[in-house]
Amino acid sequence: KKGGFEHYMLKEIYEQPQVFYNTIKALEKDSRLSMLRIPSEITVAACGTSYHASMAFRYLVQEYTTKRLSVELASEFKYYTPPVRDMVIGVTQSGETADTLAAIEAAKARNCPTLAVTNVLGSSITRSADWTVFMCAGPEISVAATKSFTAQLAVFMGMVNVMADGRFTEPLAHAHRSIERVLSTDLEAAVGLLGSATGMFYVGRGVFYPVALEGALKMKEISYIHAEGYAAGELKHGPFALLSTETPVVAICIPGQTYGVMLSNIKEMKARGAPIIGIGVEGDTEVESVVDVFVTVPEDHPMVQAVTVSVVLQLLAYHTANALCRDIDKPRNLAKSVTVE
Ligand code: M6R
Repeated sequence: KKGGFEHYMLKEIYEQPQVFYNTIKALEKDSRLSMLRIPSEITVAACGTSYHASMAFRYLVQEYTTKRLSVELASEFKYYTPPVRDMVIGVTQSGETADTLAAIEAAKARNCPTLAVTNVLGSSITRSADWTVFMCAGPEISVAATKSFTAQLAVFMGMVNVMADGRFTEPLAHAHRSIERVLSTDLEAAVGLLGSATGMFYVGRGVFYPVALEGALKMKEISYIHAEGYAAGELKHGPFALLSTETPVVAICIPGQTYGVMLSNIKEMKARGAPIIGIGVEGDTEVESVVDVFVTVPEDHPMVQAVTVSVVLQLLAYHTANALCRDIDKPRNLAKSVTVE
């Protein structure tokens, strides 16, 4: 059943090139997406990994389109009463997360059009929302979400592509090749550097901030190492006090707008003794020279690199948890879907 893999999580990680490709192709065929005439103001509600994918969506919408999108934790939606704009999107792999379903109901009560982004045909959210877009991830067995995160990114990138009049059709059509390549990333040195760490940080900027949050979530849920995801600029505002030789940092430093400032943040963290695993682009000797372990992703469109870096971080969590002999597919205290508030 695990297709020769030791765990469902690893099997599902390996399915991601196909999942990304299938989701992008399905969206291209789904003429309803363009017919939806994506409104100019959107609120997204989600939990956990789905929330991180939605945060990445916000960065992409902001960078590449003229629309406005805000993201809310579905569990907080009811307390903040966020301005419900032209459309509310509920994002949930299972389609059964109680808080996300409640957010959709709250939006409907305010006469707001609703869209579900889910992986499960016939799930509760598909019956509640006005429209549904399916991710083509296939059944996800492992409690830790991996391929559903990638499928959510594919849906959002496909939507951004529609909003940007097809500007990203080409990179999205080829993204599966880069995703395929990172599956064979050698992470032995990175896992070794984590050693017996009990606490660690993940940092990034821009779209790589939610990618860092998701990397940290994967690490904590399956390895039980206390991993904190941070926007790199926030470290100085408190967490720096925790940095020492005992607190490894995974720093995402990809060429683009945030590159220079990330590079100096890495140097600052290094100066405080923190061992650094740098995630950068192949051939980047500048990042390589300032980090302890350098892990690369292929050169590609920055949007695609958000996906490839995420896959590398899933693998890092997987191999670390495996080295610690954790119950990877069924981490303690967790359920695959959270059907109570
Ligand atoms: O089914 P959903 O996408 O609504 O689930 C939301 C979260 O419970 C889920 O993403 C959770 O954070 C993951 N299992 C983490 O890997």
